[in-house]
Order: sequence, then C-alpha cells, then structure tokens
Amino acid sequence: MGNIASNTLFYSYMAAKNIFLEGRFRMTLNKKLQDWVKEMSYMCQPDQIYWCDGSQEENDKLLKLMVDSGMATPLNPEKRPGCYLFRSHPSDVARVEDRTFIASKRKEDAGPTNNWVDPDELKTTMRALYKGCMKGRIMYVIPFSMGPIGSPISKIGVELTDSPYVVVNMRIMTRIGKEVLDALGDGEFVPCLHSVGAPLEKGQKDSSWPCAPIEQKYISHFPEERMIWSYGSGYGGNALLGKKCFALRIASVQARDEGWMAEHMLILKLTDPKGNKKYICGAFPSACGKTNLAMLVPTIPGWKVETIGDDIAWMKFGKDGRLYAINPEAGFFGVAPGTSMDSNPNAMLSAAKNTIFTNTALTDDGDIWWEGIGIDAPNHLIDWKGNDWAPGSKDPAAHPNARFTAPANQCPAIAPEWEDPAGVPISAILIGGRRPSTIPLVHESFDWNHGVFMGSIMGSEITAASISANIGQVRRDPFAMLPFIGYHVCDYLQHWLDISTNTTADKLPKIFYVNWFRKDEKGKWLWPGFGENSRVLKWIVERVSGAGKAVRTPIGYLPAADAIDREGLKVSDAEMEELLKVRKDEWLKEVASIKEHYAKYGATLPKEMTAQLAALEKRLQE
Ligand code: OXD
Ligand code: MN
Repeated sequence: MGNIASNTLFYSYMAAKNIFLEGRFRMTLNKKLQDWVKEMSYMCQPDQIYWCDGSQEENDKLLKLMVDSGMATPLNPEKRPGCYLFRSHPSDVARVEDRTFIASKRKEDAGPTNNWVDPDELKTTMRALYKGCMKGRIMYVIPFSMGPIGSPISKIGVELTDSPYVVVNMRIMTRIGKEVLDALGDGEFVPCLHSVGAPLEKGQKDSSWPCAPIEQKYISHFPEERMIWSYGSGYGGNALLGKKCFALRIASVQARDEGWMAEHMLILKLTDPKGNKKYICGAFPSACGKTNLAMLVPTIPGWKVETIGDDIAWMKFGKDGRLYAINPEAGFFGVAPGTSMDSNPNAMLSAAKNTIFTNTALTDDGDIWWEGIGIDAPNHLIDWKGNDWAPGSKDPAAHPNARFTAPANQCPAIAPEWEDPAGVPISAILIGGRRPSTIPLVHESFDWNHGVFMGSIMGSEITAASISANIGQVRRDPFAMLPFIGYHVCDYLQHWLDISTNTTADKLPKIFYVNWFRKDEKGKWLWPGFGENSRVLKWIVERVSGAGKAVRTPIGYLPAADAIDREGLKVSDAEMEELLKVRKDEWLKEVASIKEHYAKYGATLPKEMTAQLAALEKRLQE
C-alpha cells in the first residue's frame, strides 16, 4: 500500500490512551448531554470517552495518531503545508442514498421520495449493531455549531464518533469544541451518533479505513426526536453528520416547524462597479458547477463575486421582513476531480494548506493530483487505492468523488461578512440544472408561487454517465433537495408556498431559473459558462433593482434580446436568440413530463402546483 506506514492502529491507540487519559475530560452541566453520552457509551462500549475541545493541539495529536497508524499520509509541507491524504475503503466512497432512512413515526410523513422504516424497528436493528461497536476504540464527543456560534439562526449538535478522521473533518466543516459547549449551556442540541461499525478485539490489527459492509450501513434520521444515528460508513455526508444529515434533513423539519428554510444552496455576494451589493442564493443538483458559481471570477469589468457559502443556506426572516441567510458550515467539502486553476482558482487556493484530501492520487514528491487538475499526470502516481499508477491506465488515479475538506476562511474570495451572525439579506434565488434543450439561459418567475412551481420541476437530463436506460429523461430534483428533504416532498413544497405569507411580495427574493447547459442541434454548448455566468448574474441584479429589460413569455420573464451584456464575448446574435428561445412544442412535452412527475408525488401535492401547471399549459396554447 504505497508509502503507508506499517504501524498498527493498536500501538498508536495505546499511545493515544495515555494522551487522552491525561487529557482534558470536559464535563458539561447539560444533563441531557451527560445522560445521552453515558447511555450511548454503555451501548457502544468504547475503551475511552474523549471530549473534543477543538484546539490546534488536539487536532495535531489526532493527525499524528492517524499518521502513525497508517490511516493518514502527511503531504509535503513545502507544497501543501498542514495537509493530509486519506484513502477510504473502496466500498466506502460516497453518500449511500439507498441506505439513508427517514424514520418518522408515520410512513406518510416521509413521503414517496424517502426510504422509510418504522423508528422502533430501526432502533432495534441499529441497537444490535451498535452494541459493543466501539470496543477497542475511543468515543470522541464533538460539540459543534452549525452557523456562527451564538447567531440566532445557528443550531448546536453533538456528534459521538469512533472515527478520529471524522473529528478532524468536523473541525474544518463546522465550529467545534469548548466554545460550543459554553454556548449550549443547558440548552437543546441535536444528538448525532456515529460509528464506523468495526469493533476491535484485543490485539486485533486495525485496517486503515475501518467500515462495515454495505448492508450494515444505516444513515438514519428520526425527525420527531431531531436525532441522527449513522452506522457503518466513515465517508463524507454519511459520517460528518453536521452536513447533509443535520443541516439539511433534520434542519428542514425544524425549519418547517419553526417557519424558516434549510436549503441546499450556495450563497454569493455580487458587487457592481458602483459598489452596490446584492446577495444571491442558488440551488443546483450535483454536477452543475455549484461550488464554481459560489466562487466565480467575473469576466465583466468592475464586477466582483464573493463567497458566503457553497452548499447550504439557512434562511430566516429579519425584522424588516426580508429573508436573511447564513452558511451553517465553516468549510468546503468539495469534489476534487475537475477542479483546477481554470475552473475554480478560489477552490484551488482554499485547498493550498490545512486541507484534508480523501481519495485523490499522491505524487512522488508528496503532493496530490486528480483528473482535471489542469496539470498533466506525472509518470508515476499512487492512486486512490494505494497502488502504483501511470498515465494510460484504464482506471482514474483519483476516485471521481475524491474530496478536499478546506477551511472556508482560506478562500481568497470569502466575503468579510460570511460569519455575520445576522446573516445576509437575499435578493434573488437561482435554481437550475443541466438541460441541453427546452430551458432558456435564464428566466424569471412571474411571482413567488410561480417560482416555487419552477423549483418543483427543476432537474437535470440523464446522460450516458448515469443510468443509461433513462437517457434523455429529466431527473427532477425539487430545489436540489431530493435526497435531503427530511419529510414529505409535498409538505416541503407547501412550506415554500406558506413561507411567503410571513412578509410582503416586494420583500421576497425573486426566483430565476438558469441553464448554462443548453446545446445547439450539433450538440455544442451555446453558452461558455464559468466566469461568463457573471453576465447572467448582472441581468438578474438589474431585474432585482427594478431595471433590466425583459419580455413576458408563457414560461416567465426572459431577457430582451440585447439585455444580457455581451461586450467582449463571442456569442453571436443567432446563438443568443437560440439560448433564449422558448419553443412551444418542447414546452408542451415538458408539461406532459411534469404531469408524470407530479403523479408520483400523490394526492397531497399542493393544489397551487397543479394550478400553476395548468396555467402554464394554457399560456402555451394561447
Ligand atoms: C454534496 C452533495 O456532497 O450535494 O455536497 O452531494
Ligand atoms: Mn451538496
């Protein structure tokens, strides 16, 4: 296995025991937390319980422990200071949607888009797995805050995990440790239990990435109890429970009940040449360039984009009736392949130091490499499985879902107010997907409810890269939340409709559907994308400010022919016309496909959605 050290985790573990025995056992006065840690430790039977304080010293010790055990490879400090590479087990490389469960008390509350299991039955199954699952390991207690500590929009969770890899990642992705425990006091927190599901017998040699077989993996959510139980996987969203499990699945339920919004959205700040600032959120399914858009470098002179967040937005109404968003995370868990100084220089620079790389390739001089990094592969690499690799190999050197975990404050484009506890006022919400036809470059909804309708039908066309039998069909992914809504999709859409009644129409963000991926009849992309997307953002902020020329069409407001700034851009009038074309025949097919999509959602689909669909059909037939 490449240059992975031969020490066993057992020996490091003995060393660790000494560190942690001497270490600071931080007690809390929070009775619920004390009782829960006690109860879970009786069930999981770890050798030690360690309360994380989030300090640099603690982080260094954990990383050393993992280097000594062979789990982590330190990268060349001259090239990647403070960076480490991890290689997961080949069976544990991504979120497992099939093994993700919403265990609401009633099946109908999970809805047609979630896997449901009765919560008592699921707890019985999982308790049997958890029993003794941390033997030979340390249980780390990670108090974490989603959002700036103390913000009225933030929430606190506590993750118990037997994975030190999870601790060092959570330290980047969230705010962890003592300050969080202090802020929690005797308040409410979301309990998140995590185990890799690989107990160690005395003297048993650990593997470099312990995990359980797929059929024993469970990523479970108990929405009424606001509780998460995850078992068997050490990877990404399965194990870093603050991200998808808490900040989206559980938070979406809290948001519905408490009148706010937990969304799978980037947040960016756009400043025009006069210094006017606007904040925009955007929901895009995976593989649509969401992180790239969040960190975009505009091509139009004088315009500036700054990043607030790249994946999740929590939005609450302020006293002025506007929606304010925070990024509940503190880091980026970005897909590495395809990220380069061309596609996203700000992401590359964010990951220049203090970053954890998982499943990328390793160069002979101790740096990372992946497909699409913008530099040719050297003649020799160690691939993500730990094997020798040379250019021309049939397998990629980095796993396609290889990731970097980088602190957000290292992003050169991070906005100074990204941690403002009050959040930032949102003027526009973008939605989109990959659609080679039908959907124009950009269109604006007539009003909020029409925008919710647009969000309910968004999605990407299935390409040969995914499920081939369905090529050409659209995988609809409402507000990019399909795998992340912690309750019934119809109630989720109803919540979007209801939220607007908290304020007046003029205070609500305007909703825009963008499509960077429209192709001509020869299959060539019509729009250059990347930094040029700033031209579309410019029109959007013009519209938000009451200017921006638009034409009314059956599907919404489109930019007038000359409304998108094309100065210095090689997109012809004919191409622009095609980018903005609304073809009635294509849209009538779209209506038929939306009807099929809605039929799957069942009888509780909000009436407003079918009314919007009928109104669209009527406008198309006029
Ligand atoms: C992610 C995802 O990893 O949406 O952010 O899958
Ligand atoms: Mn995401």
